[in-house]
Order: sequence, then structure tokens, then C-alpha cells
Amino acid sequence: MIIARRRFRSRLLLAVALAIALLFYLRPTRFPDLNGTYTHKPTILFRKSSFDWTTVEQHHPVQSVITLPRGTPKPLPRIQHQFGQKQKNVPTSQARAVIVRNAFLRCWNSYKEHAWLHDELKPITGGAKDTFGGWAATLVDSLDTLWIMGLKSEFYEAAQAAVQLDFNHTTESGINVFETTIRHLGGLLGAYDLSGEPALLLKARELGDMLYMAFDTPNRMTPFWLTFEDVIAGTQMAGTHDPSASPASLSMEFTRLAQLTGDDRYYDAIDRVRAFLERTQDKSLLPGMWPTMINFRDEMVPDNSFSLGALADSLYEYLPKMFILLGGLEPSYESMYRKAMDTVVDNILFRPMLPGKEDILFPGTAFVRNEGVSLVPEGQHLSCFVGGMFAVGGRTFGIDEHVKIGERITRGCAWTYEAFPTGLMPEIFGLLECKSLDGCEWDQDRWREEGDQSLKEGFRNAREPGYLLRPEAIESIFVLYRVTGDEQLRETAWTMFQRIMIASETPFGNAAIANVTVDGTAEKEDSMESFWMAETLKYFYLIFSPADVISLDEWVLNTEAHPFRRPR
Ligand SMILES: *[C@@H]1O[C@H](CO)[C@@H](O)[C@H](O)[C@H]1NC(C)=O
Ligand SMILES: *[C@@H]1O[C@H](CO)[C@@H](O)[C@H](O)[C@H]1NC(C)=O
Ligand SMILES: *[C@@H]1O[C@H](CO)[C@@H](O)[C@H](O)[C@H]1NC(C)=O
Repeated sequence: MIIARRRFRSRLLLAVALAIALLFYLRPTRFPDLNGTYTHKPTILFRKSSFDWTTVEQHHPVQSVITLPRGTPKPLPRIQHQFGQKQKNVPTSQARAVIVRNAFLRCWNSYKEHAWLHDELKPITGGAKDTFGGWAATLVDSLDTLWIMGLKSEFYEAAQAAVQLDFNHTTESGINVFETTIRHLGGLLGAYDLSGEPALLLKARELGDMLYMAFDTPNRMTPFWLTFEDVIAGTQMAGTHDPSASPASLSMEFTRLAQLTGDDRYYDAIDRVRAFLERTQDKSLLPGMWPTMINFRDEMVPDNSFSLGALADSLYEYLPKMFILLGGLEPSYESMYRKAMDTVVDNILFRPMLPGKEDILFPGTAFVRNEGVSLVPEGQHLSCFVGGMFAVGGRTFGIDEHVKIGERITRGCAWTYEAFPTGLMPEIFGLLECKSLDGCEWDQDRWREEGDQSLKEGFRNAREPGYLLRPEAIESIFVLYRVTGDEQLRETAWTMFQRIMIASETPFGNAAIANVTVDGTAEKEDSMESFWMAETLKYFYLIFSPADVISLDEWVLNTEAHPFRRPR
């Protein structure tokens, strides 16, 4: 009896000891949160997609693989201002960062509840929609924002879902190569670079292998749409009239994938597009720039419209960023940037005619005709990234004038937000232009004749009057703040953030605004694109964060604001 009980007790003790040992062995890794608390890191279980694109034969394989540039990365000039130990207004900024994070968290929780694993949340009706193949675009796009904001348990929950996505499951017959690359591939790579979670890189590679098939064309230039059937049949070809930014800004994501996996094929793929850009830069109707639409199939650039806005934007944005990501080892990105920006300064930028003579600039659209080059003085929200690009290019290549131009363009975007009763910028708007970037006298008669009297003085129109929750203005304000240290930019950002929240908040999240020229209860659209959480709220959070959070001297951000680690 007693012996038996003792034996029972010792077995119990042994079992308890084993259980404790097992718990100790399995305990999750602990790491500090942003606010000093500790979160548990769960084990992330990778699940393969049900189809492996590396098993599909390439119909147009490359003869020899171009490799990543070899050698030690060059030390590049500092991009960020030397902030010193204490940035000004720290308590205020911290409080503002928390408010931005709460706005993000509200959308995230809503997405989790109403649209989990779908591409987008419908912010007005609380439904879901699939706009990019149904592979959880908002989730994948938000991963690194979750990490940066210190929302680690949310991050791991999302990462777990992301690495179980099956890229073979879609109702679409193809994918938008550009969007899938910048949002999904960029999102997975940025999340991996921040967290070091190996499963995220495996998932990125799997998607990279699918996207790599887009290069399987006779001349290795990508089509706008990758159609699964065409790839398998070997009939895929590049387009004859495709947006220049589509094939020409896959470079950062494929380069980072090559760097992280050591597989040069991914770099080979995009370096052929770089070589095409280099070959054609001086052959267009506006030498130095590439037309907005390009014939990638026949490798010709006959179109006559040139812009830094929609359809072309990130082609230019990626020139300095690729130079940085490659540690300065591919010099053509610098020469292409310099040539392109000389042409931009001479032909694309304009200064508006304003009664207050504000010293601000906008990129417009140039058309080349027999009579010569004519500029349409139209600004776009999409081209507001240009201020940040000039600032980064200016610092990286030691061109002080470019930093000044970047400031003037960034101030132009901020000014436009203020110019409308909602405090928001329209998608596309026309202005009365000065002949010179040095400015001009206000001409009241010209304003009466050519302007829209219902808008602020200086505007011709608000041709597309919506605000789609886009990031480009705050993106440049953030970059300029990090480059110049000008604290006023944080105030500008705070005003902008509040105006966006007032106009766009809905019961479930934030919604696109139909018409920024109408104040009061602005009419909303049931749309909250994934860039709202991937970019807009990330940039607002970062500008109120200490300057070493995603320092531009350690990270380079893709066009969807996904941070890639710079080589050291
Ligand atoms: C910070 O602290 C609060 C309160 O202790 C906690 O609820 C939260 O999860 C922590 N982490 C973050 C990122 O807010
Ligand atoms: C899914 O797999 C099938 C082969 O089993 C393939 O034909 C199809 O293109 C794949 N679709 C995607 C989206 O990967
Ligand atoms: C935007 O609102 C203005 C002012 O009410 C109106 O004149 C204009 O037609 C509206 N534009 C669109 C596209 O709804």
C-alpha cells in the first residue's frame, strides 16, 4: 500500500519534472516590445503552395546568367540629417506616433474580423474584396508595418497566415506582375529583412519563382499581365504599349531576392531590363526620359508623352534606390538618374503662378510634337514621391541642388493639401504655370480667364477630385524630414494626418474620398487599398518615431514602402 503510494508519488514527481523540462525546452523565445513589455514568439510553420513553378520549363532560357555585381559595397554619403541624441518635441511626437498606431490597429482589427485573408477590407460596409488574386494583399502588405509599430503578436499571427498562403489558389487566370511584385513579394521580403523569420523568405522565394516566369518571353522583357496558360504554353510575350513602370520597377524586389537567396537568376532577370533602359534613354523623343508607355516587345520608345506620375513613376524612383541597394556597385543607375533628372528639371517641373508667390514646384506632363515640347501643368498625387526621390538622389550623389528641388516639390504637395476645404489633395489637378522655375507676377486677368473660380486662386481645375488614401505626399514629407531635420515638417505631417482622419474615418476603417473640393461630410467610396496600411500609416508613424527607426542609412524602401536592408 505505502510502497505503492510512494511509487505513485515518485512517478508523479518524475512526470511533473519531465513536464517542466518540456515546457522549458519549448518555451517561446522572448524579446522586448517597443514599450518594454515582452511578447512570445511562436514557431512559424511554413506550408508549400500546391504548385511549384520551378518545375515548369522555360521556353526562352537565358544563355548565361548575369550575376549580382561582385565586390565590397561602396561607402555611400550619409542620407539622414545628424539628429544628435535628442530630437525635438519628443514627448509630442511619441504621443502622435501612438495615435497613428491606434488608427492602424483599428483598421487591422477590422480587417481581421471582416476580411481576414482577403485582399481588402470594405471600410464602409465591413465586407471584403479580392482585387489582387485573393492572396491576402492587405495582410502581406501590412506585415512590416506591424513589426515596425511593435505589434509583435499581431505580426506573428499574420506571418503565420502569410507563409501558409497557396499561390496556386486563385480564381484569376493571371496576375498583375507589377502589383504582385511590389506588394506581395516586397511585403514578404521586407517582413523577412526585419524579423529574420526564415519561413517568410521561403514564401517570398516561392512567389518569386512564379513571378520569374514573367521573364520567359523571347526578349526576356515582362508582360503587364502574367497569364498562367500562356506561360505554360510558351506563348507569353512582352506588351507593345505597356506602362513603363511595370517592367522597369521590378528591380529592387528581384535584387533583394537574389541577395538573400544567393540565386543570381533573379538578378539576371531585372538586369536585362536595366540594360534596355540604358540603351534607350537617349533614343526617346525627349532624350534622358523614357515615354510613359513603352513597346517592350520590339524594344522601342516611340511614344510622345512623358511624366513622373501614373504609369511611369517608380521607374525613376528605382534608379537611385537600386544604386543604394547594390551598394554603389552598378554605376549605370547613377548615370541614368543624373541624365533623367536633367531632362526633368528642364522639361517636366513647373512653378505655379500664385498671388502669394509661394516657392513651390510640381512635376507636370510633357508632350513632344512637331512644334516642340509642350508642358501640361497638371499635378498628380502619384507624383508627390518625386520630392523624396530628389532628396535621396541629391544626398547619395552629392547634388545639393537636388535636395533643394526636392524640398520645393514636397512643399508643393503639402500646399495643395491645404488649398482644398477638406485639407486633402485631389488625384489630378491643373494649375496656372509660370514660364520659369524662378516664379512670376500674379496675373488677375489670366486667373479670371483660365482658372476655376470655385477653387483657390491659381487652380485651373481638380480634374480627378478624389483622394484614395494615397501615401506619396507624406512619403516625401517623411524623407525630407529625415534628410533635413526640419521640425516644421512634422507639424505639416500632423495637420495632414488629422485632416485625413477627419475626412476618411468610417465605422470599419478609413475610406477613399470621392471629392476633396466638397467640405463637410465628404462622400466616401467603399475602398481602402492595401497601401493605406502598408505605406500611408507607416510613413505617418515613422515621421513621429526616432530617426534611427528605419534609418535611411540602413534601409531602402521599395515603392510600396517595404524596407530592404542596405548592404554593409
Ligand atoms: C505595451 O504595453 C501595453 C500595456 O502593458 C500592452 O497592452 C501592449 O500590448 C504593449 N505592446 C505594444 C506594442 O503596445
Ligand atoms: C496551379 O497548378 C496547375 C497545375 O497543377 C497549373 O496549371 C496552374 O497554372 C497553377 N495556377 C497557379 C495560379 O499557380
Ligand atoms: C466635386 O465637387 C464640386 C463642388 O461641389 C463639383 O462642382 C464637381 O462637379 C464635383 N466633381 C465630381 C467629379 O464629382
